[in-house]
Amino acid sequence: MPLLIRVDELQPGMMLAEPFVYRSRIMLAAGTELAARDIEALQKKFPKATVKIGDPQLDNAVEFEDDSHERQVAQTAQGRIAECMSQVQVRFTQHTTLEGVSVSSIQESVAEVIRYLHDNPTSAALLNSFMNSDNYLSEHAGNVFFLSMMLGSAAQKYVCEERQRQSIARQLEQKVTTSLTPLGLGAMLMDVGMMPLADLFIQERPLTPDDWQALRAHPEAGANMLPDDFSPTAKMIVRTHHENFNGTGYPQGIPGEKLHVFTRIVRIADAFDAATAQRVYREARSSVRVLWDMTVGESRHFYDPVLIRCFARLIQPFPIGAKIRLIDGRYAVVVKYNREFPLAPHVVIAFDKGNRRLPNHALEGPMLLGEDESVRARSFRREDLSFIYEEPDEFVPRSRVGIWPTLFEAAFP
Ligand SMILES: [Fe+2]
Ligand SMILES: [Fe+2]
Repeated sequence: MPLLIRVDELQPGMMLAEPFVYRSRIMLAAGTELAARDIEALQKKFPKATVKIGDPQLDNAVEFEDDSHERQVAQTAQGRIAECMSQVQVRFTQHTTLEGVSVSSIQESVAEVIRYLHDNPTSAALLNSFMNSDNYLSEHAGNVFFLSMMLGSAAQKYVCEERQRQSIARQLEQKVTTSLTPLGLGAMLMDVGMMPLADLFIQERPLTPDDWQALRAHPEAGANMLPDDFSPTAKMIVRTHHENFNGTGYPQGIPGEKLHVFTRIVRIADAFDAATAQRVYREARSSVRVLWDMTVGESRHFYDPVLIRCFARLIQPFPIGAKIRLIDGRYAVVVKYNREFPLAPHVVIAFDKGNRRLPNHALEGPMLLGEDESVRARSFRREDLSFIYEEPDEFVPRSRVGIWPTLFEAAFP
């Protein structure tokens, strides 16, 4: 399994395990032995990029979890929905309405991808980064669809109970359908009201008050753009996907218990993907930070507490092969995910304080990140990670293995 190495840490002679791809073009082929000039070019053009470097000796000594199935499934689902969304977008730019967009073909595509996900179960939602912000809306639609479907399936029991409770409460249909198709349609099309504002995503200037006002109108505008015969549940998701669980969302400020459970799912998937995406007007935030904020930080009140707990267990913020700087200055490499507490993956200490690879006999682990004081994380990709061990006032003391078990209990009593 290749190591994920930041371009500023590359050294001549390192071997690319996978091609370096930018906007679907192969910039450097797999197997390239990096020369000083390649490294210089990478550092200049892609200062924040991470490349995959082969380390056959480490491969021999350590067993890495193989997540290629998870990545493949995610990529297929994301890619198909993004493609479908960009066709809708093309149609829209030609006609400035959604007239002529075939509802049944969108529904069929969504249902097909849902069947594919059902036939190819995965236990982690690993989003692929295509390093391509050319078409933010379609990529975002693909990601939110995928995350929503993963969360919808993982939380299916809860989803059924909530739908049953709400149906009875509103004296609507007694029969509860467990179909996730309306969820998929809503997740894919939630930001359709942003298509007329697509330019805002590529302008290199901060948003003006008018821009913000237009952005805030996109849920309503999007729902109105959809054809009359479109799934009413999906339309409802589009209209309400920015409503918060604590009633502070927009446009209506509907509180959590009145929000459809599909809306609550899409809200989480959308918030996560939007916060971790890079926009021209602001930097992307790390998955670690965003997951932290959404589960135990200030913004946790925006989300359904049961669903956000399910979601946190699907997201793996530290990829296999990632190098994490420890509190004592050494570096650990992620070798296996932790499905219960994703911020405490299984790691092997493989680099010394000077960032030199330890000989195989001196490797330590596998162990859980944060298992004891000396294997706590200090930073990841230059980001200081001390916040994950902070103990906010309202939380109970942490347990031996990192802080996650107690934080989960405290955040989701
Ligand atoms: Fe939105
Ligand atoms: Fe969005």
